[in-house]
Amino acid sequence: MRIIKAKDYQDMSRKAANIISAQIILKPDCVLGLATGSSPIGAYQHLVEWYGKGDLDFSGVTTVNLDEYRGLPRDNAQSYYYFMHEHLFGKVNINTSRTFLPDGMEADQEAACKKYDETIRSVGGVDLQLLGLGHNGHIGFNEPGEVFEKGTHCVDLSERTIQANTRFFASEEEVPRQAYTMGIQTIMMARKILLVVSGADKAEIVRDAFFGEVTPQVPASILQLHQDVTVVADAAALSKCGELL
Ligand code: F6R
Repeated sequence: MRIIKAKDYQDMSRKAANIISAQIILKPDCVLGLATGSSPIGAYQHLVEWYGKGDLDFSGVTTVNLDEYRGLPRDNAQSYYYFMHEHLFGKVNINTSRTFLPDGMEADQEAACKKYDETIRSVGGVDLQLLGLGHNGHIGFNEPGEVFEKGTHCVDLSERTIQANTRFFASEEEVPRQAYTMGIQTIMMARKILLVVSGADKAEIVRDAFFGEVTPQVPASILQLHQDVTVVADAAALSKCGELL
């Protein structure tokens, strides 16, 4: 695991965008695994800006997102489909028929998960998977549990995750209680992983996930066993790692 220290959110975002952009330049028909949430927004802004300057071409890129809320239609402003179009897909020359997310409106859980796993397989797997880190150590919506979940599955979101996501909704009641998410095995099969994390509120979980025991109770801890992980973390997020670095 490579840990790159960034000064702050802006610096983290620029460094992460540079890594994503190198991936696109080196392999223009690459498959990017993408994340939503606050952490990657700054990186997406840079990618959009560099595309605008003519430095990046998304025309050959395929994307598969980590997760989607169950029961939110695509045109709901809080759906991850909407988020991706707002922050990236609608602003670059990506072929939107090559952008994939789990289908949040598929009521049949098994069918939704199977279909998404097949999609990921059919595009040839993920070259570079971008991840954020939840306060409880979740990656995608793989919440702390007894086992490392495998493929795409439907999860009941933990109370902590529901609370953290309330900031995007009018009230806590409106936050969906379930989501479809790639599993840990799928994430671990990505050829490269890039995790971005920022802020003092993540300092404890950064220490536990990357320097603690590998356990399903801290889902991100499994990343310690992946052969090509880059973590770009800002100073506040690394503030509890001290001499471990
Ligand atoms: C988003 C996702 C989540 C977030 C995590 C951190 O697609 O899968 O795991 O990456 O909840 O969220 P932020 O970045 O908002 O702190």
